Amino acid sequence: GAAKKAKKKGKKGKKGGKKGKKGGDKAAAEAESPDSPAATPVEAAPAAASSGVPERDTEYKCSVALRLNAMIKKQTDFADAALYKSPLDVANAIAAKLAEYPETEGVVDKVEVVPPGFINFRVATSFLVRELRNIAGTGKVAPPAEVKPVKVVIDFSSPNIAKEMHVGHLRSTIIGESISRILEFCGFDVARTNHVGDWGTQFGMLIAHLKDEHPNFVDNPPNISDLQAFYRAAKARFDAEPDFTQRAYSEVVALQSRSEESLKAWNLICEVSRVEFQRIYDRLQVTTHEKGESFYHDQLADTVELIKERIPLVGTFTSGEDEDAEAIKERRDAFAAEVAAQTSLDNSVLAEDNGALCFWIVNPREPNAPPKPLIVQKADGGYTYATTDFAALKYRLDVEKADWILYVVDSGQASHLECIYKGGQHMGLFSADDKRVEHVGFGVVVGEDGKKFKTRSGDVVRLVDLLDTAVEGAEKLVRSKLDERLAKIDEQLAAGELTEEEAAAAREAESMDDAEIRKASDAIGHGCIKYADLRCNRLNNYMFSFERMLDTRGNTAVYLLYAYARMCSILRVGTERLSSVLDVDAFFAASAATGAADLILTHPSEQRLAFTIARFAEEIEYVLETLLPSRLCELLYDLSTAFSEFYHHCKVVDLDDIEVSKSRLLIVRAALTMMASTFDLLGVEYVGRL
Ligand code: ARG
Repeated sequence: GAAKKAKKKGKKGKKGGKKGKKGGDKAAAEAESPDSPAATPVEAAPAAASSGVPERDTEYKCSVALRLNAMIKKQTDFADAALYKSPLDVANAIAAKLAEYPETEGVVDKVEVVPPGFINFRVATSFLVRELRNIAGTGKVAPPAEVKPVKVVIDFSSPNIAKEMHVGHLRSTIIGESISRILEFCGFDVARTNHVGDWGTQFGMLIAHLKDEHPNFVDNPPNISDLQAFYRAAKARFDAEPDFTQRAYSEVVALQSRSEESLKAWNLICEVSRVEFQRIYDRLQVTTHEKGESFYHDQLADTVELIKERIPLVGTFTSGEDEDAEAIKERRDAFAAEVAAQTSLDNSVLAEDNGALCFWIVNPREPNAPPKPLIVQKADGGYTYATTDFAALKYRLDVEKADWILYVVDSGQASHLECIYKGGQHMGLFSADDKRVEHVGFGVVVGEDGKKFKTRSGDVVRLVDLLDTAVEGAEKLVRSKLDERLAKIDEQLAAGELTEEEAAAAREAESMDDAEIRKASDAIGHGCIKYADLRCNRLNNYMFSFERMLDTRGNTAVYLLYAYARMCSILRVGTERLSSVLDVDAFFAASAATGAADLILTHPSEQRLAFTIARFAEEIEYVLETLLPSRLCELLYDLSTAFSEFYHHCKVVDLDDIEVSKSRLLIVRAALTMMASTFDLLGVEYVGRL
């Protein structure tokens, strides 16, 4: 409990704390200490170089006094206002009061007020030692303790059959996978759901075209490798041949009435898409379970019945047989205004418009904007995307028993989804008091020109091509880094710094065979695509740039993966050196057995590294609240800079001081554990050697 309290307070001031960090943040990564492993060079964080001893930086800066003071200033009837004239007054009062709360004991060892009104909480070394002992000892990071594990349905990826799975779906896939992993890690019961668009009028033309092109499709299913081209051809005919258009419509009717032949054609087309999607999921190590729009089709009639039962019908509009367009528009506008006037945040209504049933709902995010009519049944009796979403919402609540439902869908659909949630509440499907139903939106993907992301020829980018390009770029990078290292050995040999044997051994240690290079390139290529997306706040538009994501400096997957490999190598080399005097494996095993390793944190850079590692659970809590995995990316970056700084200042293994060496190996292990776990949560693959 004590730990919790202190952390909560810290969270509020996190922003201030970030800004307040010292230049030590950007410590150089390369330091040639005697036990520096020969391997894995890694570029330092941008604008590297710091010398001297960094200040101990294990503080949370809390800015609540500044905000409170601003609030007090606005109040006219606050009797004690004179006591709190400045933020500093407020901060001092809080700090004085805090002394009465023993909970912070053992967690915070110093509370300090600094102008203009920050309250700094310095985390006690004993607390950091405790936290780190657990991680280093068990080799595991623990999720936050106070999470109530409920049932979560997460709707993500959700591409459309026969249409392009585009970069927007890629974002949904990457963000959804990461959020799913984080929730699962915290113990939630997660149902990953792929709400694919596998039903709808486009299938009419696809089936009609299939029957023309492959009349014998039932006995001899064609191999449609390019479904996009097939779709385009069908669409062209649909637009140009009235005859075909008619047939397409009747195919829709046949499909909806479940004619056997239509279902076979439909299945064949879906299967082609599915294989395509699965290729992407496999490469990205994504798991989703398909429950597409078709799954709800049989529930749509009942859904509309329920809507009619629960939501009042306030009017019907019918245009006259020979009424002219002008007059119809005028009357319809007046009708719409009347319906809108009866719609409010607390009251959704139904209205019929020439046979189409419209569900009028106010979007709670834009309470002053005019309400939106969502068509839930068309004049021809057909249903819509919205009807399906109401049915799916009901199913997720009633059958899947979800307590929490997440929709990882582009922000362009925000208003549609908000209306579905509001309408669902008015239908009595759930109450916002006991269920969390929310949209996890994200911005669009733009190219380096700031415009919608396209290929040079202006086509939509095929995801497979995108992944291939990233992996190719990664392979070039891996090979050139390897060449650099080998060239360095040759140089050292020529300069007489290495003997023939030493050079041969170094080459041997560096070499990577083709399989290893492949594996590394896959990890980096896919990792950089995912990471570039995850690291920015999802709500912003996201600029896609191979060059940037493959940059070896800055907060990129490449930088972090090299940093990780370097840590692994530091651990390997350190373990080897210490093995001359100690059974290191037995020592690790003993720490694991007690789950409480012996740690000594003395150097400020050790403390800062420990502090960064110990922040893990708190950042996870933050992600659970905000669903912003970008926070974990920041943490990873902080970790790798803190580690570089630690490595720069602290010799990991010093045979003259075995106790400190043991402790430092454990710290390296804890850092590695935290980093690997965070990569796992982001869905970024990592390799121990690069
Ligand atoms: N298939 C939709 C699209 O590509 C996304 C579906 C999102 N999920 C939902 N329940 N509406 O735009």
